Amino acid sequence: LKTMPSAYTDVVIIGSGIAGLFTALKAAETRKVTLITKKELMESNTRYAQGGIAAVMSEEDSTAEHMQDTLVAGAGLCRPEAVQVLAEEGPAAVHELMALGAEFDVEGGRLALTKEGAHSHRRILHAHGDATGFEIVRALAGKARNHANIKLLEHHYVIDLVQDELGCRGVLVQRPDGDRIYLQSTAVVLCSGGAGQLYRYTTNPEVATADGLAMAYRAGAVIRDAEFIQFHPTALCYAGAPRFLISEAVRGEGAVLRNSRGERFMEKYHPQLELAPRDVVARAIVSEMEQTHANMVYLDITHEKPEVIRHRFPTIYETCLSYGLDMTTDWIPVAPAAHYMMGGVRTNLDGETNIPRLFACGEVSSTGVHGANRLASNSLSEALVFGSRIVKRIQKLEVLPEQVCTGYDETRTAQPARDLAERKLKLQKTMVRKVGLRRTGELLQEGLEELKRELGIFQAKLVTAEQLEFANMLTSSLLIAEMALQREESRGGHYREDFPERNDEKWRQHQLCRRDQQLL
Ligand code: SIN
Repeated sequence: LKTMPSAYTDVVIIGSGIAGLFTALKAAETRKVTLITKKELMESNTRYAQGGIAAVMSEEDSTAEHMQDTLVAGAGLCRPEAVQVLAEEGPAAVHELMALGAEFDVEGGRLALTKEGAHSHRRILHAHGDATGFEIVRALAGKARNHANIKLLEHHYVIDLVQDELGCRGVLVQRPDGDRIYLQSTAVVLCSGGAGQLYRYTTNPEVATADGLAMAYRAGAVIRDAEFIQFHPTALCYAGAPRFLISEAVRGEGAVLRNSRGERFMEKYHPQLELAPRDVVARAIVSEMEQTHANMVYLDITHEKPEVIRHRFPTIYETCLSYGLDMTTDWIPVAPAAHYMMGGVRTNLDGETNIPRLFACGEVSSTGVHGANRLASNSLSEALVFGSRIVKRIQKLEVLPEQVCTGYDETRTAQPARDLAERKLKLQKTMVRKVGLRRTGELLQEGLEELKRELGIFQAKLVTAEQLEFANMLTSSLLIAEMALQREESRGGHYREDFPERNDEKWRQHQLCRRDQQLL
C-alpha cells in the first residue's frame, strides 16, 4: 500500500465551462475553491456556444412564456418546478454574468435579442454576433485566474469521487506527471459537461467525453434519462472540415434548408418550418438525405445582405470561408451531429445529488429543466441559475476536518489498455450507427453487444488519462444504449423507428439507474 499525498480545499469544482467557472467564482466569495480541468481553463463546450443564452429580458416577453416554450420542447418530461426556477431566476443570473464582465451585443441602446427554434419570443442574448460562449469563458476565466480564493489545476484528470459515511469527501486526481493525489473537500461540484464525443459526428470539442456521468455512476449517483441525446440539425458537413456548428440563430435570422436537389422541404414535416423543434428538423434532414442519396442538405441564407451576415455571424462566416465556402453567396452543406445530453446526474432544485456533499451543475446534471429535449440556449442560463443555488447550499454545509490518509492499493498487475485511438473510433461509430438519431430495438441490441466487447478495459491497468477517459466513454455509452433500449416509444431526443409514437400512458416517466440497481 502506497501512501497517498493529500491536500484540502473547501470546494472542489470539476470542469471549466460556464457551470464550473461561474460556480467557482460564486463559491470563492466565502470558501477556498479548487477548480480542476483536464485541459486548459478556456477549453470546454461553453467556449464553442454560438447562438446564445436564453432569458426573459424584454417587456414583450414573459416568464410564463419562457416556461411554456421549455415545457413544450421537453415533451412531457420536464420538472415544472425546475423550469420555473430557470425562467424566474434566469434574468438576474444573466445580470450577474454581465457584472462579472461578460459583454453581450447591444442594438439601439438595448440588449440585442435573437430567436431560435421553438422560442415564442426573441430572448436569446449573444456576443460578438456568434461567439457568445467565447465571450462568457473569456470574462469568467479571466476573473478565476486572478482570484485569491481559487486554485486552478489545469491538465489534471479526476479519476474518481472519494466517499465515506459523511458523503463525498473529495476526489482522486491524476497530475500531468502521472502522480496521483487525494484532494479532500467539504463539497464537490461536478461540472464536467456533456457526451458529444461518444459520437463520431459531434459539434462538441474533444474534451466532451462524459467523464462526469461515468464517475458519478461508479460512485452510486442516480442517473436519469440518459437516452435523450440532442442532435443539432446543422453542423458543417464538408470534406476536410470538422463538424463545426452552424448556429440555429442562422435559421432564426431567416436561413432556409434545401435538399441536395435544391428544394425546400421543411413544409412537409412541421408547421414551424426551419424553426421546428430540433429533433424534428434533424430527422427531416436525415429523411431528405436518404431520399436524395446525399450525405448532407444545404442551409441557404444567401437572400440576406452580405454585410448583415458578416456582422451577425462573423465566426461562422470566417470558418466557412476558411474551407472555401462564402455563405453570403454559397449554400452551406450541413448534416446533424450529436450536440447535447439532456439527461445526466439527477439533482434536486439546489443541485444536490443523492450522495451527500456531491452536487452536479450544467450539462452533466439532470435538474429537470430539459426533459426529453432541450430548448435552444437554455443550457447556459441553467448553469448560472443552478450554480447560484448550489453555492447557497454549500454555504450552509458544515466544513469537514481533514482526514488522515491511509494510502491506496497500486498492486494491479494487469496489462495496460492498448490501441485506444482505434477502439475509441470504433465506439464512436457504433454510437452513430446503432445508438444515434434513429434507433430500433435490433440496432440497440447490436450496439450494446459491440460496446460490451470492450468490457475488458475494466480489467486492464488504467494508467494514463487517455485510458481512464476511454473507460468513462464506455460506461457512459452503455448507460445511454441500455436506457434507449428500455424506452419503447419516441419522445424528444429519443426516436425509435420500431415505436415511432409518443406513449404517454406508459412512458410519461423518467428512467432512473443506479450502479447497485437494475434500471427502474
Ligand atoms: C446554436 O447556436 O444553434 C446552439 C445553441 C444551443 O445549442 O443552445
